Amino acid sequence: MTYLVTENCIKCKHMDCVEVCPVDCFYEGENFLAINPDECTDCGVCEPECPVDAIVSDGALEGTELAYWMKVNTDMAEKWPNITTARPSDVPPDAAEWDGKPNKRELLSENPGKGDE
Ligand code: SF4
Ligand code: F3S
Repeated sequence: MTYLVTENCIKCKHMDCVEVCPVDCFYEGENFLAINPDECTDCGVCEPECPVDAIVSDGALEGTELAYWMKVNTDMAEKWPNITTARPSDVPPDAAEWDGKPNKRELLSENPGKGDE
């Protein structure tokens, strides 16, 4: 069991989630964060921290949705740098406009973010 970052994080990327994870298993992309499912201890602490409700338990997803987000989180966590400290100045200035927009997954960038500096 793990928690997963899902579609509404894309282009919102508030980063509040990374501050509370006890095992530091968030990884930063250009416009999205990923959880490493192999490192997540399923504690659930991050879920209420996300202002746009992008973090869910894998048990809340099913079928192709579960498979898609499990793969995105797993693959991107391997490619991207670890992030444990939020950078409020790097939250996208238009994050509020992207909250809840449909079909954001096609905008997910596979480029890495800065990670902890
Ligand atoms: Fe970290 Fe817990 Fe969230 Fe998993 S559920 S990513 S261990 S805070
Ligand atoms: Fe994304 Fe929410 Fe974290 S928008 S970066 S999952 S606080």
